[in-house]
Amino acid sequence: MTASASSAAPSAAAAPTFAFGEDSRRRLEHVAGALAAVAVSAILAVARKLSWHVQVSLAVNLGLSVLAFLITTSSIHGMGPSFIAARLRGIDLNKPTTKRDAAGNLVRPIEGVEIPESMGTIAATVFILTMAVFIPFAFAAYERSAFPHAVLAEYLSAILTITFATFMGFADDVLDLRWRHKIPLPFLATLPLLLVYYANGNETGMMVPNPLRGLLGDQLDLGILFYGFLLILAVFSTHTINIYAGVNGLEAGQSVVIALSVLVLNVVQLYRIPEHYAEYRHQQVQSLFLMVPFLSVSFALLRLNWWPAKVFVGDTYCYFAGMTFAAVCILSRFTKTMVVLMLPQWINFLYSCPQLFKPLGIPNPRHRMPAYDAKSGLVMNSYTEVKPAEHNAIGKVVFWVIKTFRLAHVKPPREDGTVLVSNLTLINFVLYVFGPCREDVLCIRLLLLQLLCTIGCFAVRFGLAGYVFDVVL
Ligand code: UD1
Ligand code: MG
Repeated sequence: MTASASSAAPSAAAAPTFAFGEDSRRRLEHVAGALAAVAVSAILAVARKLSWHVQVSLAVNLGLSVLAFLITTSSIHGMGPSFIAARLRGIDLNKPTTKRDAAGNLVRPIEGVEIPESMGTIAATVFILTMAVFIPFAFAAYERSAFPHAVLAEYLSAILTITFATFMGFADDVLDLRWRHKIPLPFLATLPLLLVYYANGNETGMMVPNPLRGLLGDQLDLGILFYGFLLILAVFSTHTINIYAGVNGLEAGQSVVIALSVLVLNVVQLYRIPEHYAEYRHQQVQSLFLMVPFLSVSFALLRLNWWPAKVFVGDTYCYFAGMTFAAVCILSRFTKTMVVLMLPQWINFLYSCPQLFKPLGIPNPRHRMPAYDAKSGLVMNSYTEVKPAEHNAIGKVVFWVIKTFRLAHVKPPREDGTVLVSNLTLINFVLYVFGPCREDVLCIRLLLLQLLCTIGCFAVRFGLAGYVFDVVL
């Protein structure tokens, strides 16, 4: 939920304008413009080898995506004041306009400029409506006698699952849901998608690497375990972006980098996979149809959420983006690649475990985002207060491991035995390693880390995999 707001009455005039930081936003726009031009050219280049029908669908998809970008941008501008009036607003904790006491601590209740929260609602709604308009176009050319009902069912189940995740995110923004609701709900929402996966005769096996073939055979069928893996992936993806958050631009930025990586994967696969693998090539096109509109609404949001943020994306966007990735990789059969593309999110989750699971002993404050040094204007490590003497045996071991292996910044103990430990997020770890910096610089560092994982993933997928598998698709 949003940080507790000041008592000031919300109004349209409350929409802030930060004079600083516009150069940073402009640089982001230039980079994104160049990337969009390269991406569209690459899609058009591989489209030449696709059937005429798919080419028309791709053109419609690209056109609708441009429209989706414009509508998302104008709707966020236009509806921001209404969100504030509906109490969907937040205060950016790491800004000079947010009130602090003489010691530099935030005053409670938080006082500062209110900006619209939960703007992911607009991005997700535009995405879902774009797909609603696109799907009839994608299937318009089929005769009724040869209508691909199975493929249509895949799209519809994906949209259903994504819509539910968006709804759950909105409920979280408004109601601050409990974890006991937030874990089972995406499990249930993913079931229709898995049913379609099952009904369409999809494989639950994985190829065995050459060195293990003598032991396990050529193919290892995981059966029901594979569906278990898909369910866990869906729940993980739904939550993982939300807990890797708290820096302007990071939630939407990481999603844009992952989506761009998927787009590159699809384009490269369409370029290199021979035409007789028709089904495999179709899966890549299916993924593109979902990723291009997703990228356009996400970038529209990122632009306004970039430092200094004019809007917050909210839990709605985080859940929407996470479930979109889960749905796309399940439909287009690249779940294992997606796990690697989301490596920073996995690492952040594993690193966070001692704070997320109470018995592991490290207290979890309401916010784990970086702290702000009002004098320098830089962001720096935020800390949680640990009392090692009061820990159970597991807690003592966890604290010992963190301290001994320097997994976080641990300050010397105070007289009462309490110790300040930097919050266990990848964001804080990067600050611990590289030191304080401006908030947009921190976001860029984290996005570069995401990009590095993409490069590593592709190096393994297209390079090393050839050494351990006979066939690499
Ligand atoms: C998750 C994280 C929490 C982190 C928060 C930041 C876990 C378990 N929870 O909580 O540690 O602090 O996201 O989003 O890891 N905000 C900013 N600047 C930003 C983004 C958010 O100041 O760039 C503040 C604003 O006050 C905003 C609020 O965070 O209103 C949103 O927090 P919310 O998304 O509700 O937090 P959670 O998702 O519950
Ligand atoms: Mg959140």
